Amino acid sequence: MDALLSLFPHGSAVDADGMLRIGGCRADLLAAEFGTPVLVVSEAALRARAREYADGLAARWPRSRVVFASKAFPCTAVQRAMLEEGLGLDVAGGGEIVSALAAGADPALLVLHGNAKSDEEIAMACEHGIGLVVVDNSDDVDRLEATVPPGRSQDVLVRVIPGVRAHTHASVLTGHADSKFGLAPAAAAELIGRIERSPRLHMLGLHVHVGSQILDVEPFAQSVAALSGLGGFAVYDLGGGLGARYTYDDDPPSVSAYLDALVGAAREGLPADAELIIEPGRSMVASAAATLYSVVTVKRGSRTFVAVDGGMGDNLEVALYGQRFEAAIAGRLDAADGETVSLVGRHCESGDVLVDALRLAAPRVGDVVAVPATGAYCHTLANNYNGNRRIPVVFAAGGAARLVVRRETWADLLARDVE
Ligand SMILES: Cc1ncc(COP(=O)(O)O)c(C=O)c1O
Repeated sequence: MDALLSLFPHGSAVDADGMLRIGGCRADLLAAEFGTPVLVVSEAALRARAREYADGLAARWPRSRVVFASKAFPCTAVQRAMLEEGLGLDVAGGGEIVSALAAGADPALLVLHGNAKSDEEIAMACEHGIGLVVVDNSDDVDRLEATVPPGRSQDVLVRVIPGVRAHTHASVLTGHADSKFGLAPAAAAELIGRIERSPRLHMLGLHVHVGSQILDVEPFAQSVAALSGLGGFAVYDLGGGLGARYTYDDDPPSVSAYLDALVGAAREGLPADAELIIEPGRSMVASAAATLYSVVTVKRGSRTFVAVDGGMGDNLEVALYGQRFEAAIAGRLDAADGETVSLVGRHCESGDVLVDALRLAAPRVGDVVAVPATGAYCHTLANNYNGNRRIPVVFAAGGAARLVVRRETWADLLARDVE
């Protein structure tokens, strides 16, 4: 039971009757009040992780900032919690600018990314006075020069490909030599020269990001080392990418170990008076949440399929990246063992598997199933496949729960159809 509980948000517990509690709230009562599937966030766990990052970086490199990579969980309640904990926000495009501003962000604390920023997004950045625009290519520079009003200048970072291939899924690798993101050092140096001559742009520093779900610290240190040949700058944004713990066997580096490696490399290769920025996403939010489903059917044959009322409509991580999750019957967390099942979703794809080869304790129709570590990239990749209504997000804290994103309605599904 302890192993299972350790995958749920910090502070989760099991009642005497075996029922899971998240943020002090019983899973059965959460399911009854908000319906299933529902994404439950422990607000205390979310905020504690934000402070762990902010305090850890400030202690090692005082001139520094943590900006949450909104893409990992872009909703105003999560972005607002990050802002309240003193973090900035990284925004990947117009939609995340809109939600960050709705969350109350000071535009000066936003960092805008994108390998294909549109005219509209560049215009939004200039109009709102977004603090840093990370330039990915020379077309970004053309657009910015055409958009920044005369007499003003936009602070920019240039995204550099560090040529580091981290050990992770190919779809979330970004720092390898032939990445679509950023520029190889020689091309970056050329663009830096152009920006330095531009009256509309202020060349402030460099950006690097090696990928996501990275479970060792070495690639991060290597990516910092790759920047030192490009000269000295005032700001270095070292990206995100630290892996999260999804399974019993996962053993990601701690935030401390990650920061030690990153800041150690910065001390060796970057100017001592530079400002450091980091952009954690997945490792900030993954473990702060769990998804609750209801079992719809149990089909026993050559295999046992336990099908729930959600699936790839609310968790695409499995289908996209083959990410392994674990799961348990929320009301029998204390069960000694169970049977081997395939936990599947309700969508019309055989690939709609939430967890394969999973031990579940006597699953029956109506049971609430809890899947931990769904805080990152689940809400944001949710979709309407098979007419799925995207699921709600609930914050649980101190035994009280509140809805922060409502479930989509049937009317929402029709709302964009104009004919
Ligand atoms: C530029 C940039 N920064 C930060 C992140 C956050 O990465 P992660 O969620 O793995 O921490 C990403 C995600 O891929 C990214 O593209």
